[in-house]
Amino acid sequence: MTIKSIKQLKNLKGKRVLVRADFNVPLTKDGKVGQSEDFRIVRTAPTINYLIKKGARVIIMAHLGRPEGKTNPKLSLKPVAKRLAQVINRPVKLSPEIVGAKTTELVKNLKNGEVLLLENVRFDAREETADKKFAQQLSILGDLFVNDGFAVSHRDQASVSTIQQFLPSYAGFLLEDEINHLNRALRLPKKPLVVIIGGAKMETKIKVIKNFTKVAKRVLLGGALANTVLKVMGVTIGKSAFEPEMFAEVKKLKLTDNQIVVPVDGVMATKTDAKSGRMDAFADIKSDELILDIGPDTIKLYASIIKSAKMVMWNGPMGLIENPVFAKGTKSLIKILAAAKAETIIGGGETVQMIRKMKLEDKFTFISTGGGAMLEFLEGKKLPGLKNIIK
Ligand code: 3PG
Repeated sequence: MTIKSIKQLKNLKGKRVLVRADFNVPLTKDGKVGQSEDFRIVRTAPTINYLIKKGARVIIMAHLGRPEGKTNPKLSLKPVAKRLAQVINRPVKLSPEIVGAKTTELVKNLKNGEVLLLENVRFDAREETADKKFAQQLSILGDLFVNDGFAVSHRDQASVSTIQQFLPSYAGFLLEDEINHLNRALRLPKKPLVVIIGGAKMETKIKVIKNFTKVAKRVLLGGALANTVLKVMGVTIGKSAFEPEMFAEVKKLKLTDNQIVVPVDGVMATKTDAKSGRMDAFADIKSDELILDIGPDTIKLYASIIKSAKMVMWNGPMGLIENPVFAKGTKSLIKILAAAKAETIIGGGETVQMIRKMKLEDKFTFISTGGGAMLEFLEGKKLPGLKNIIK
């Protein structure tokens, strides 16, 4: 695998470089980018700073939320432009229009080392349909295309993939870093590799679990997705949600040889917004209870397995972390991994936010900015946004 990196580009001075970034970050109630939620912006800064230093004129394309092809002031990139300016410590102009005469003028007036952010590309319905004409209109704003939006690279969209038909395309530093780390975990991991998969839906993670059973010594499960496996194993799960449509797929996983490990106890309550939970083994779960987090015996078991790992790959929370009562399992796991000797590769928005809030991000080998993109990459899929960039 070879990656066409921006490092290969000579003489960037005066070049108009169109960068696709993923600045899809949660906003606070008053419409700002929260301190622990600017991870994707912070991680894109090295690429932008590099281009500035080389004297390029930097034009950034990004999206926020799902405006469904219509202008929506609540999803404007204004707060993102403000935060980006603070992160890179320079002015960032925001072009109110994505393409057209006014944008062309703003690009024309851009001096070497200056940065222009185009308004949310998803305000134009043609973005999500991967429209050729729209991609071409975007492409004439630049001389080169740099994809640094790993987290959106699983989307076949105009500013992500179609644009690569019109401009020489390269990977930014973040994209390169993501691919190198995730690829290594998947294909050349340090062994023993332990994989931890949590989250709500087995349907979205089953392919990743299957793929990792080829290389991992153990695959530890948590979150609501583990309920489906527990159910298949005949364990009582009270009235916890599970996915009967996934039974056939789950049964294909070898559940008897200890490679796949499921929680042995949980934190239970009768409703998701409960003020407290009850820790117990699943055998004693009541019929009206839900499993909302992993319990202390599971944490101990998972800690002992992690101890023998040389590499750990983790995606997805262990419980319903929106409610702090059920976030303890995930927090404990974060602490265990932060202290582990193993190389640690972590992804998934909510877990990453929690790691940042706990100020432990420096304790991990690599934290992915990708949600769906990370999962699709780990499933072994070819991502549309990498098409002309990885050979
Ligand atoms: C993400 O946040 O995972 C990416 O920005 C993709 O967003 P999407 O799921 O709305 O396409």
